[in-house]
Order: sequence, then C-alpha cells, then structure tokens
Amino acid sequence: MPAVRHIGVLTSGGDAPGMNAAVRAVVRTAVAGGIKITGIMHGFSGLLESNFEVMNARSVSNIVQLGGTILKTSRCKEFYEEEGRAKAAAILNGASIDCLVGIGGDGTFRGLHKLALEHGVAVIGVPGTIDNDVAGTEYTIGFSTAANTALESIDKIRDTAASHDRIFFIEVMGRNCGALALEVGLAGGAEGILIPEVPADLERLSDIIRDGRQRGKGSFIIVVAEGALKGGAAAAAAAVEERTGVSYRVSVLGHVQRGGSPTSSDRTLASRMGRAAVVAAAEGISDVMTGVRDGQIVLVPLEETWTGDSFINLDLLGVAEITAT
Ligand code: F6P
Repeated sequence: MPAVRHIGVLTSGGDAPGMNAAVRAVVRTAVAGGIKITGIMHGFSGLLESNFEVMNARSVSNIVQLGGTILKTSRCKEFYEEEGRAKAAAILNGASIDCLVGIGGDGTFRGLHKLALEHGVAVIGVPGTIDNDVAGTEYTIGFSTAANTALESIDKIRDTAASHDRIFFIEVMGRNCGALALEVGLAGGAEGILIPEVPADLERLSDIIRDGRQRGKGSFIIVVAEGALKGGAAAAAAAVEERTGVSYRVSVLGHVQRGGSPTSSDRTLASRMGRAAVVAAAEGISDVMTGVRDGQIVLVPLEETWTGDSFINLDLLGVAEITAT
C-alpha cells in the first residue's frame, strides 16, 4: 500500500523544455502504482484557485516531445506569504491531495519546503529550469535544450561576425548563474565569457581583443550571462569599445532559449526524475528534490537546493580561453 493515495502535480516559475516529459512520467508512474493524480494548472496561482484537472495515462499522450508545459505555469507572489500557503494547504486537504509534486526551480522549492514545514504537507521537488542553478543536482531539466538552442543562434551569429570581421556580444539567460553562458561559450568557441561567478574583467577582455586583432583575428564572440554585470551585454560592449575603439554588435537571445522541443537528454532526465518523485512519495519520503549525480538519480533535502554548493565547473573558463586563441 503506497504511503500516498492522491498526488497533485504542478509546474512553477519559468517554463523549461522537458517539463512535459516530467509531468508525463509523474502521471504515468502514479497511475501504474494505483495513486490518483491531479494536475494543478498555472502553478501555485492555480492551486490557490483550485484550478485542478484529474488526469489519467491518456491525459499525457503525445507530449513527451513538446516544449513549454501543458499544466501552464506562473510566478505566484501570494504563495510566498504565510497566509497564501495556509490557504493552499487547506485547499489540498479539502481535495484529499496528500502529496504535492512541484516541477520548477529554487523559488518553487522554497515554497514547497515551507508548505511541508508549516502544514505537514508531503512535497517532492523536480528541478526544471534552463538556468541549471539548483544546488544538489548536476543538471536541471531544460538546461540541455536551452544550451543547444542558444548554441544554434551563436553559430549563426558567427557566420555574420566572420563575414564582417565584427565583435559580437551575445547575452544569454541564466538569472544569477553563469552555467548556461559557460556551456555555450565553450561550445560556441567564444573568445570571452562573462559570468556572475567571476567578476567581469573588462580590461583583460579588451586586451584579448587587441591582442587577437594584432595576431590577425577578425571576429570575436563574447558570451555574457545576463547576471554577469549591471547592464548585461550592452554595458560590457560599451566598456570594451571605450577601451579598444573597436565597434561591436550586441545580440540578446532572450526567451527563445526557453522554447522548443526538448533534447534527448532533457527527456530522459525528466522521465527518470518524474518517476523517482512518485516512487519517493509512495515510500513516504517528503521535503526532497530529485537530483542527478554521476548519472544516478538521488534525493536531496529541499533546503540544500538553495544552501548547498553549485556544481558549476569554473575550469571550463580556462578550457574556453585556451581553445579560442
Ligand atoms: O529562470 C528562468 C529564466 O528564463 C531566467 O533565465 C530569466 O532570468 C528569467 O527566467 C526570465 O523570467 P521571465 O520569463 O519572468 O521574464
């Protein structure tokens, strides 16, 4: 007999490719285990409005390849307040939902953790965000797809940069984390990568460009994480132009990075994590996130997802630098 009889599943925060594959895995694992499953629409906002849809195995047909989230999502301010969470707990109780699975980022997990702490609701988190900024897991669902999407654009920009011998500053998402910039900067052959984890050294970047030009390099790609410095890529570009006198173009990739069909690795990660979330819930485990480490699915206390160490590999900066000379 599973420890839970009825699971509610929602997606929350910024959508990420692969969220649908995770929802599909949660729904079908629950159905296979004889657990009732309800989809909660529009994240925590929908929870506070009892916007529920009872699901079955067929409710998630043909969605494994879809970007976005069929459950819709939101950023819900009310849930960050104690009163909002009390209301949510009462609604869950009234609907006899005894475990809530939340697919999202650290904001989602903070909300779930407080719900568990304050109201004893069983909660499980599944990391879904393109930012790959959740401690306790090497990868989040959506990161691989976003990286490939950004990379496709960077490759295209390289064509025009090379034709015109231009410097391009390309801004990628990531909020306060440089994981996405680091990944696509290295893979895209960028001559410079600016990330929040390392203070932006614009003197050094200017030297790299001056030195490169002297050695006959025509074009340059500088990848800037949106959180690397105030003003993002535009500010970095202006500062470098002031120092080098070389003109530039700026390209902000924006929300295109959040869309599209998930890669194979996002789909498999989402399927494994979705299944693991329901298995954990059925075993009576709560207040944890499913993570992946060394290829294995692990359960991480929710609190560690924002207090723990990030898995960002800063050694990649050195690899990018030497390979882009
Ligand atoms: O967390 C995902 C993310 O796409 C970040 O990279 C970005 O800073 C933020 O969400 C954008 O949020 P919104 O879609 O609300 O503008």
